[in-house]
Amino acid sequence: MTSRIPFDSAAPPLGFGAAQLGNLYRPTDDETSRRAVDAAWELGVRYFDTAPHYGLGLSERRLGAALASRPRDQYAISTKVGRLLVPTPEHADRLDDGGFAVPAAFRRTWDFSRDGILRSLDASLDRLGLDRIDIVYLHDPDEHWAAASTTGVGALIELRDQGVIGAVGAGMNQSAVLAEFVRRCDIDLVMLAGRYTLLDQSAADDLLPAAAERGVGVVAAGAYNSGLLSSDRIPDDAKYDYADAPAAVLARARRIAEICAQHGVALPAAAVQFPLRRPEVVSVVLGTRTAEQIVQGAERMATAVPDALWSDLAAQGLVRP
Ligand SMILES: NC(=O)c1ccc[n+]([C@@H]2O[C@H](COP(=O)([O-])OP(=O)(O)OC[C@H]3O[C@@H](n4cnc5c(N)ncnc54)[C@H](OP(=O)(O)O)[C@@H]3O)[C@@H](O)[C@H]2O)c1
Repeated sequence: MTSRIPFDSAAPPLGFGAAQLGNLYRPTDDETSRRAVDAAWELGVRYFDTAPHYGLGLSERRLGAALASRPRDQYAISTKVGRLLVPTPEHADRLDDGGFAVPAAFRRTWDFSRDGILRSLDASLDRLGLDRIDIVYLHDPDEHWAAASTTGVGALIELRDQGVIGAVGAGMNQSAVLAEFVRRCDIDLVMLAGRYTLLDQSAADDLLPAAAERGVGVVAAGAYNSGLLSSDRIPDDAKYDYADAPAAVLARARRIAEICAQHGVALPAAAVQFPLRRPEVVSVVLGTRTAEQIVQGAERMATAVPDALWSDLAAQGLVRP
């Protein structure tokens, strides 16, 4: 772990994922969002993740408003760069087509240039009502390696050197390109969504060894794999990777749930705790829409899980040893 990782080692490693505050999939109101953030704060959660992409700025605005009265030195916040929001008032009567239930009053433009990064961050600071951001991730640069790994990361390092941001990294749904960032760029953290979970440990092949070697922290997001692992009984219409879960994935998750039950552990508790079994993982960020969800998330994190569960899952080939 590097010294720039802004997590208090005494605080719980649970983080608040605020994509849902941007109306991911469906509308969420301001009051529900505020109550979710307040509940997280009361539980001792001190890390919050957002992005301009999440509801075209709505998540940043709601999160900033909900944290406005909290002492700034007592929490860490991350946002992301790479998609600039360009006003499109002429489309405000339509809905966003990026997965969020918000008016299409902006369109997203990929931009990992220095100027694009500076403009994106300026707008984020404005929406959040902050003058400093603790962590900034290059957001989803899957198809933008050339620019993100040069001008993009360069701009963030410059801002880090000036003290405008604390730590820099990249956030993605895949591990291979994140591993390249870790190997080749001077970054502090990565946010990895869905690829080191109870159901999918593909990051163990590339990202986790690279992070261990370079002392880069891994923030594990998507521990529920978009919701599939979030309830004791898995419904047929459960989501996996932001779409309906395929039958084979449902079957595998149900088999894991059965073994969890044999050890007296609910599936979501095992899902929340699993990523922290690797020392490279410095936080688990749960996508949170309501106060009840984060209260449950904290309970799941505190549940006792016997070592025998992990060895049993490994023995049956359901998780990597
Ligand atoms: N590229 C990136 O950097 C990247 C990619 C993905 C995610 N992220 C970050 O990571 C966060 C988490 O990822 P995620 O939202 O994709 O996945 P997730 O945490 O695996 O799943 C979140 C979903 O689980 C459901 N849920 C949460 N708590 C629950 C509870 N106690 N009981 C039942 N269901 C519960 C919610 O469903 P409902 O929707 O029904 O409320 C929520 O949408 C995001 O908010 C974002 O901050 C970053």
